Amino acid sequence: MSNASDRRVKIVEVGPRDGLQNEKLPVPLSAKVELIDQLSRAGLRFIEAASFVSPKWVPQMAGSTEVMASIERLPGLCYSALTPNLQGLEAALAARCDEVAVFGAASETFSQRNINCSIAQSLDRFGPVVQRAREAGVPVRGYVSCVLGCPYEGEVAAQAVLEVAQALLAMGCHEISLGDTIGRGTPESTRKLLEVCLRDIPVERLAGHFHDTYGMALANVRTSLAMGLRTFDSSVAGLGGCPYAEGASGNLATETLLADLHALGYETGVDMSGVQAAGRYIRQVLGDLQRQQAA
Ligand code: HMG
Ligand code: MG
Repeated sequence: MSNASDRRVKIVEVGPRDGLQNEKLPVPLSAKVELIDQLSRAGLRFIEAASFVSPKWVPQMAGSTEVMASIERLPGLCYSALTPNLQGLEAALAARCDEVAVFGAASETFSQRNINCSIAQSLDRFGPVVQRAREAGVPVRGYVSCVLGCPYEGEVAAQAVLEVAQALLAMGCHEISLGDTIGRGTPESTRKLLEVCLRDIPVERLAGHFHDTYGMALANVRTSLAMGLRTFDSSVAGLGGCPYAEGASGNLATETLLADLHALGYETGVDMSGVQAAGRYIRQVLGDLQRQQAA
């Protein structure tokens, strides 16, 4: 997946994690499992299904062990989870995650608010996590958040993004997902960021993770595609946000991403109608929860 003429795009479905982590009302285990199973059957091959973080910090992701134990695992699919520290990693390994992800940030304040440590401390913490995962034969993805803006600090320097991404690659992450956590990016700022990153990082190591706060996510994907990226994160029904980034509205919807990629002639291997059905399902569940709460 490394050159601009390649028509295959890898989609990482993050709805069950990045989407559901942000819901206010507790989503039942059965609904999380049904959502993941529907996404699996729709042909999504990479599904971020869980998050082994502190339940005091993100209550919605409590029960990740049960989620991983209850989903139907289709052969060849990769079910991944977030792991902020060794405690999370051990839980993810016990739950037989196929891949794990460490998540850092390009902004100091966001790092403190999200994972309660500085950027440097987070990298020190991730080193042993990545090493232990790799010893267990589990690949590790690295996230960099706030790559195009921070809810606390505003502008974020591309150089700061590059340094964190390089540190994550050097410790053994196979792929870096560049997170526009609050959706501030534009095609112009996306292009500038990628120009800096691509000077030092091979394009096939980078993924785009765009939130759609201002409706720019798809435009940013198109800019990234033109610059050779072929891996994008998206979320069924556009669910999402980050509990530690006020204003971070939904991720780019998988349905929207698919519609655009297919119209442009890219191959994803994903069945649009299956994803749409999963989107209808989870919207119904969330709507029912809200109605029950209001009653
Ligand atoms: P801390 O409070 O500094 O951690 O939190 P600690 O080591 O001092 O532990 C405190 C308590 O948490 C202890 O429990 C630990 O056992 C427990 P107590 O003794 O008080 O009962 N604990 C854990 N429990 C379960 N699993 C664990 C775990 N670790 C500690 N793994 C910590 C530090 C990193 C744990 C915390 O800040 C945390 O969990 N943060 C996660 C925040 C989060 O998940 N944010 C959303 C994901 S990031 C995102 O959405 C952005 C992304 O989508 C990309 C983008 O859009 O840009 C990825
Ligand atoms: Mg996100």
